[in-house]
Amino acid sequence: MSSLFSFGGSDKSMFESPKPITPQEYEFIRQTVYEYSRINLGPSKKELVMARLSKRLRALKIPAYKDYIDLLRSPQGKDEMTNLIDSISTNHTYFFREIQHFNFLVETILPDVCKAGSGMSKTFRVWSAATSSGEEPYSIALVLEEYLKTKAQGWNWHIQCTDISTRILKKAQEGIFVKERLDKIRKDWLSKYFEKGHGEFDGQFRVKADLKRNMSFTCLNLLSPSYPFRESYNVIFCRNVMIYFDRPTQEELVSKLEKLLLPGGYLMIGHAESLTAIKHNLKMIKPAIYRKPL
Ligand SMILES: C[S@@+](CC[C@H](N)C(=O)[O-])C[C@H]1O[C@@H](n2cnc3c(N)ncnc32)[C@H](O)[C@@H]1O
Repeated sequence: MSSLFSFGGSDKSMFESPKPITPQEYEFIRQTVYEYSRINLGPSKKELVMARLSKRLRALKIPAYKDYIDLLRSPQGKDEMTNLIDSISTNHTYFFREIQHFNFLVETILPDVCKAGSGMSKTFRVWSAATSSGEEPYSIALVLEEYLKTKAQGWNWHIQCTDISTRILKKAQEGIFVKERLDKIRKDWLSKYFEKGHGEFDGQFRVKADLKRNMSFTCLNLLSPSYPFRESYNVIFCRNVMIYFDRPTQEELVSKLEKLLLPGGYLMIGHAESLTAIKHNLKMIKPAIYRKPL
C-alpha cells in the first residue's frame, strides 16, 4: 500500500554552528522573548536556548548572534519573532495529562451542563488555550465525542485550540502521533478515531477527519490585550503555560479568561500552577479546577 500521509521534506543545512553567544547577546534575546511572550528564560535555560536557537541561525545561514539580533531589531524583526518563539518554547505535553481534569469533565461537568441544557445552546464549547502539539485538545475531543454521542442526544461540541507557536499549532492541526504517544488512549478509541500509517509511516497514527470537524486552530498570544472570540466557553483549559508568567501577567490573563467563561463555566489550570497569590472572581472547586459563579 502506498503512503497514507504526506509530509514536507527536511532541510538539512550544511551551515556551520554560529559563534558562541556573548552574555549581552543572551540578555537581549532573553528580554525580547520575555516582552513578547512572558516566557522567562532564566540563566539555567541558556544551554537549551542556544541549542534550539543555533538551528534557527543555521536555517537562516546567519553566522553570528550579533547578526541575528540585528535582524530582530530591523523592520523584518516582527515576523522573525514568531520563529524565535517557535524555536525556544517548551511544548511538552501528552494525552490525558492530569487525568483528574478529564474525570471531572465526565463525572461532573458534562452531566450537569447536559441536564440543565433545555432552553440553552446545545453546543458544549471548550477552549484549549495552550494547545501545544494537540494531545490536550484531542484528549478533550475523545471525551466529548464519546459522552455526548451516547449520553446526551442533540448535543454538539466545539473546541477552540490556540497557541503562540505557529510551528507547534501546525503539528496539532495535522494530528499525527507516534504510537508511543498514544499509550494512554483506550484501545477501542484508538481504532475508532485514528488511522494507522503504513509503509514509511508505520508506527504513526493520524486523527480521523471526523473528530477534527468540530475543532478550530488559531495562533494566539495569551498576552494580547483582547482575544478574537465572540463565544463564551463551558470550560477553558489553560494548563502548564501560566507557570512561565509573573504574577501581574497571571492576574491579567485570568481576568481575561473569566470574561470568556459562561456563568458556571470552569477553568482548568495545571496542577503545578495556582491562583492563590492572585486576585480573581472564581471559586476553587478542587485543586487546579475553578468555577465562575452562576
Ligand atoms: C508545556 S505546553 C502545555 C501544553 C498543554 N496545555 C498541557 O498542559 O499539556 C506550553 C505551551 O504554551 C505555549 N505558550 C507559551 N507562551 C504562550 C503565550 N504567551 N501565549 C500562548 N501560548 C503560549 C507554548 O508554545 C507551549 O505550546
